[in-house]
Amino acid sequence: MKLDELHREFFSKDYTFMMIKPDAVNAGHASAILKRVEEEGFQIRAIKKVRLTQRQAELFYAVHKQRPFYEELTRFISSGPVIAAVLERENAVNHWREVIGATDPNEAKPNTIRKLYGRSKGENAVHGSDSPENAAFETAFFFSGLELAGE
Ligand code: RTP
Ligand code: MG
Repeated sequence: MKLDELHREFFSKDYTFMMIKPDAVNAGHASAILKRVEEEGFQIRAIKKVRLTQRQAELFYAVHKQRPFYEELTRFISSGPVIAAVLERENAVNHWREVIGATDPNEAKPNTIRKLYGRSKGENAVHGSDSPENAAFETAFFFSGLELAGE
C-alpha cells in the first residue's frame, strides 16, 4: 500500500497539517489556538509536542532551501518545542490557511490566528500546509502509520 493510500484509509474527509510554532508555544497561546481549531470544525486526528533539531527543521522546510530566510526560519523552528497536529475537515487545507491568515501578521485579516498571536513575518505563531500534497508529506514527516492508526 502506498503512503497516500494509508492516509486515504485513515481520513474520511480532507486533512491538513498544522504546527504551533515556538513563539506561540512559549508565549502560552497553544490552548487558545487549539480551541480555535475545534471551533472551526476541525477534528484533531493526531497531535504531539516535539522540539526539532535544526537538521530536522531543514528537512521539513527543504522546499524553502533557496530562500533568503531559510537559515533564520530553521533556527527559529528549532529554538523551542512546537505542537504538531493533523486536522480533518472538509476543505481542510484552504480553510486552515484562511483561519491563520497572511504570512506577515501585519497584513493578516482581523481575528486570524497570525493577527491575534503572530509577532513578525518570521515568528508568526502557526504553520499550515499549502496544498494536499504537502499536507501528505508533512503528516508523514511527523506522524507514522502507527501513530495515525493506533487506538
Ligand atoms: P507556513 O508555511 O509556515 O504556513 O507559512 P506561509 O506558507 O504563510 O509562508 P511561506 O512562504 O511558506 O514561508 C514559511 C515560513 O518562513 C518564514 N518566513 N520568513 N523573514 C521573512 O521574510 C520570511 N518569510 C517567510 C515564516 O515563518 C513563514 O511562515
Ligand atoms: Mg508555507
